Amino acid sequence: MNADVFTLFPQWFDWFMTQRHVENALALGHTVEAVDLRATTPLKWGQVDDTPFGGGAGMVLRVDVMEAALRARYGVDPVELREQRRVIALTPTGRLLDDALATELAREESLTLLCGRYEGFDERILEHFVTEQVSIGRYVLAGGELAAMVVLDTVLRKLPGVLGDDASAIEESFSEALGGAPEYPHYTRPAQWRGWAVPEVLLSGHHARVDEWRREQSRRRAEGPLP
Ligand code: 6GU
Repeated sequence: MNADVFTLFPQWFDWFMTQRHVENALALGHTVEAVDLRATTPLKWGQVDDTPFGGGAGMVLRVDVMEAALRARYGVDPVELREQRRVIALTPTGRLLDDALATELAREESLTLLCGRYEGFDERILEHFVTEQVSIGRYVLAGGELAAMVVLDTVLRKLPGVLGDDASAIEESFSEALGGAPEYPHYTRPAQWRGWAVPEVLLSGHHARVDEWRREQSRRRAEGPLP
């Protein structure tokens, strides 16, 4: 996976790259690069955004700035770029991120994520340069950077070998393996704490019964909201 994130705040991603599973992904040859939109702006003084036509609050990321950044990175017209790879704009109104979308994205060889700031993107960026818009929930963030990190976090941990144990990304909450249901509860030592006991079946060493118990717990959690 080669993921490029176009942003006004590339240094925010320095922290992200130090997470264990992200480091693991990089060590396996995957890449995550934060591309600075200001570095290639055709405008003076590093300008990247402008006031909205028609008036109103906030600033809008300019289409010429985004085009210059994408051209500099990929050497093609961004209108053609989207035939070659998924180009995703992070927007509050986009397709909601869930486990199925994360799995889908984890199968891609390359991803391009575009982060808007302030009031967001000039609509022509969304119309002509991107393949889709993704949102991490129905609330508004100040910019797409945190959303991009959320997308990358969940996508990278699905890549083979990135987690210590690949099984942990297969049978987890909302996964296909659990029929989209939440995961079953986990316990570890001590087996007794203040009279709170670990369910007996988990200590039994009886794998089939443990499995059955877990599936039942998962089903039960799917029925009602978590407490
Ligand atoms: Cl992807 N971007 C912004 N700016 N706000 C959001 C979001 C994305 N997802 C939820 N809120």
